[in-house]
Order: sequence, then structure tokens, then C-alpha cells
Amino acid sequence: MNINRTFEFVCPTKIIFEVGGAERLGLKLTALGWKNVFLVADKGVVASGVVEKITSGFDETGISCVIFSDFETNPTITSIIAGSKVFKENKSDVLVGVGGGSSMDAAKALAILATNSGPLQDYEGPNKIPNPVPPIIAIPTTAGTGAEVNGSSVLTDDERKYKLSIRSTYLYPTIALLDPSLLRSLPPKVIAATGMDALIHALESYISLGASPITEQLALASIGSIADNIRLFYANPDNLEAAGNMLLASTMAAMSFGNARLGCIHALAHSLGGLYNLPHGVTCTVLLPHAMEHNLISDPDKFSKIASVMGENIVGLSRIDAAKHSISAVKKLISDLELPTQFRELSVREEDVPQIVENAIKTGIHLTSPRNISSEGLESIIRASL
Ligand SMILES: [Fe+2]
Repeated sequence: MNINRTFEFVCPTKIIFEVGGAERLGLKLTALGWKNVFLVADKGVVASGVVEKITSGFDETGISCVIFSDFETNPTITSIIAGSKVFKENKSDVLVGVGGGSSMDAAKALAILATNSGPLQDYEGPNKIPNPVPPIIAIPTTAGTGAEVNGSSVLTDDERKYKLSIRSTYLYPTIALLDPSLLRSLPPKVIAATGMDALIHALESYISLGASPITEQLALASIGSIADNIRLFYANPDNLEAAGNMLLASTMAAMSFGNARLGCIHALAHSLGGLYNLPHGVTCTVLLPHAMEHNLISDPDKFSKIASVMGENIVGLSRIDAAKHSISAVKKLISDLELPTQFRELSVREEDVPQIVENAIKTGIHLTSPRNISSEGLESIIRASL
């Protein structure tokens, strides 16, 4: 590495990896002196029985628990304000977010209102929250979002029909509890879409202009592990080892992108997510090969490494040919996971392209893409994906 290069790396969250650890949450909370839990889990997670599994050990440890699940897949500010009243009535001392991104976004937003008078819209952007928030424990039930180790909460302003992102060092969960047994029996479609989102977090942060030696190693290890495990998990959702490897890889990818940032795929995916009701992981997957083709010439060495950790034989190839194998590797993966390859399968309209590009530019997420990317570059990626 360049010895004169300066970089910082932040991840204040304690990570606990433990099969069956969620069922022993009561003991962990007692040891930390927390007795009054506000558990935030979306309705699907409650229906799956995961919440019952987690709270079953609470009685014997004397922990009281209120469950809040009255919020949407994209949590709205109105639902969070309603939940905040319940939180305050119960004088809870810790928030536990169980589920995918929406449960953790909701738990973080509720934590903000516990110690800050709001409105939440005032805290949009980086580090605008004045007061520290109560402790948050994040327990992911999918391997994809990485919200268990980042300091952001994405909410929908339902009055203005607008998505806002609140980012603060206060919002990093105190503990991320990674329990692979909670991922058992996930539907294969969810495994494929969330797992590809994790792969893309790793890949975009690996090639990002904001990458550092630490994020690069985390991202490469994550890409290799996802390539090795996602097919096994997709084919057999009861494969606990594959589930655990995917969960860890997703967390490592998030530790990487939380510092190195992302790139043009997520800029376009955020824009598309505001206009269409599409699963985020699927949207990113459709964009992936086209964004790689666009970026490849900017850093062929990194793309060659991606090809190599994904199991491609690049021995004896030129730098560019070796780099191109990274694209064939992801195309094979997308095909094996039976995911869509073009937006026409998902009803994205060509006439919306200018709006998609304009909104993507506004996110600023594309600014760390390795190739200098203009609105024309973003447009060429989205058009190739139609
Ligand atoms: Fe993502």
C-alpha cells in the first residue's frame, strides 16, 4: 500500500456471531443491566415465529418486553411518531430491531425520537441529531442490508412522498447479533435478492474511490464468501453453514461500504426505488453487469481480483481479459439464482429514463464510482439494463 496515504475506518458496533444466540438474548441483556425492552420487528418477522423464539427466554430473566410492528415495509414518519408514543409510555431502556432493513430503520428512528424532540425531517443528512440515543441491538433475519453495522435510517416522509436518509454516528447499533439459525428456511427468492445486494455492497465499495486497505480486504473476503455460499444457501435454505457464511459476508460488506461508500448501481437503484415498487436487491442485480462493463476500464486490476475470488481461472490472460471474467462470473451467478436480467421484465418504462437519471444524480452516491461518471454515463447503464 501507499505508505503516505491517510485513511480512517469506523465501525463502533460490537459484533456477536453465535448460532442460537438470539434465543439467549435475555441473558445478554440482563448482563448489560437492561430490563425493559422495546422490540421492533415488521409483521412478517412476527408471523415467522422468530420474535417468539427471541422473547421465549425473557420471562425467566425478568425482562419485560413490548413488541412494536405497526409500520410499513418502507417505514413512514407517521408510523414512527405513533410508535414513539408507545416507547415513551413504556419507559423502555433498550431497542431491539429484528428483521431486515425496515425493522432496523424503524428501530433507529424510534431511538432518535426517544431523546430528540424532532421533527425527524430536521435530521436528514449526516450528523444532524443533537442528542445521543438509547442503545440499539440489531438482529438481522436476512443476509443483505447490513443495517446492523451502519449508522443510517431510511424513512418515508408520507406527507411529501419523499424518502429521506438520516445518518449519524449515534445510530450505529450498540450490538449486532448475528444468529444464522434465524435465516433458516428463508424463501429462495429472498436469499437470492438480499444476497446479491450484499455482493453488490462489497463490489461497489471494493472499486470505490473511497476504498482503503481495510475496506478492500473486507470487501474482497465478502465477495469470495458470497460466491462460494450463495448458491448453496439458495438451493438449500436449511444449510446453516451457508446461511452463517452469507450473514457474516453481508456484515463485512456493510462494514466496507459504510466507510468506502458505494457507487453508480446504488445511485440508480435508489432512484428506481422511489419511482417503482421493486425489490432493492433485484434492481441492483439487473444493473450490475452493465455498471461493471462501464467501470471496468477504470481499474482492470481490481476487476481481475474480483474474477479470481469468484473462482474464475484468469491464469495467463491479459489484464483486460482477466478483468472481463468478473462480468462473466456475475452473469453465471445471476442465471443460477434465476433472477431477472433486464428491466423490461419488471415494467420499468423507457420514458422514465431522464427522471431516473436526474434523481440518481441528486443522490450523489455515484460520486465514488471509479470511472468519472456523468449523467450520460448513468443513462448508458440504465438504457443497457432496459
Ligand atoms: Fe443495497
